[in-house]
Amino acid sequence: MRHLIDPLDFTLEETERLLTLADRIADDPAAYQEAARHKKLATLFYEPSTRTRLSFEAAMLNLGGSVLGFASADSSSAAKGESVADTIRVISCYADIAAMRHPKEGAPLRAARYSRIPLINAGDGGHQHPTQTLTDLMTIRRRMGRLDGLTIGLCGDLKFGRTVHSLIMSLARCEGMRFVLISPEELRVPDYIITETIEPRGISYQEVRSLEGAMPELDILYMTRVQRERFFNEEDYVRLKDSYILTAEKMKLAKPDMAVLHPLPRVNEIALSVDDDPRAAYFEQVQNGVYVRMALIITLLGLEGAVC
Ligand code: CP
Repeated sequence: MRHLIDPLDFTLEETERLLTLADRIADDPAAYQEAARHKKLATLFYEPSTRTRLSFEAAMLNLGGSVLGFASADSSSAAKGESVADTIRVISCYADIAAMRHPKEGAPLRAARYSRIPLINAGDGGHQHPTQTLTDLMTIRRRMGRLDGLTIGLCGDLKFGRTVHSLIMSLARCEGMRFVLISPEELRVPDYIITETIEPRGISYQEVRSLEGAMPELDILYMTRVQRERFFNEEDYVRLKDSYILTAEKMKLAKPDMAVLHPLPRVNEIALSVDDDPRAAYFEQVQNGVYVRMALIITLLGLEGAVC
């Protein structure tokens, strides 16, 4: 039995195999409509979500399975003080696979130690979000035709943005990668990402403050929201929230085939005028999120053989 808690739980080869399966599903979803028949997915969400929870549910329903779960800590026995360890032991009696989002970093890892079913980290605090990374990788690969030799700009809240941490960790395994880290000083990517992931691999990177200055060289621009819920005081959030706003005017500085990604939700960091630009890939990401989660459920449940 395997879990997906950290993006490195799958090797690069396994990740690429999963993306290839997701591509095949995208090309012919009907071929997979019975793949997880009689299987149940539990969604254990202790923190708000629209995309991750509902795309997991859509993925399982698309595969012919069923879903159960809760959408907030308040509507579960966590409100009475139940631990994630006890909760996953209980859920292991009800479901075949589970996805957990939790505000505490490391909570899904702790739960996995007690789980008798495959457990997927659907986002833990400001730490990791490995299934968003699979979604991002699928979108990059479909747009650019490859995952290597790319210059990737990550812009916004690189400190608290868990999708940024997971994406860097995963892409750092690809050849010829270059990162441009665009953030205010206070929202720099955590030092451990640089010292444990980027520098040991000799990956080229720059930390810069100007989005406009970085734009012309980027193959991918990964915009992020400033994560209000992780700030200790509102004053700091208000000061930093509009540090970067991507507009149609700024898009004129970018390569003609650059792709703009964003894990969403968007607040103010991408103007609505960018949505009609063919380089805007963030709603495509949402659709890919369903296919990649279908592929992940098939993989973790060992159902590849159930599909011709
Ligand atoms: N991208 C993402 O994790 O969105 P949700 O918070 O809506 O799940």
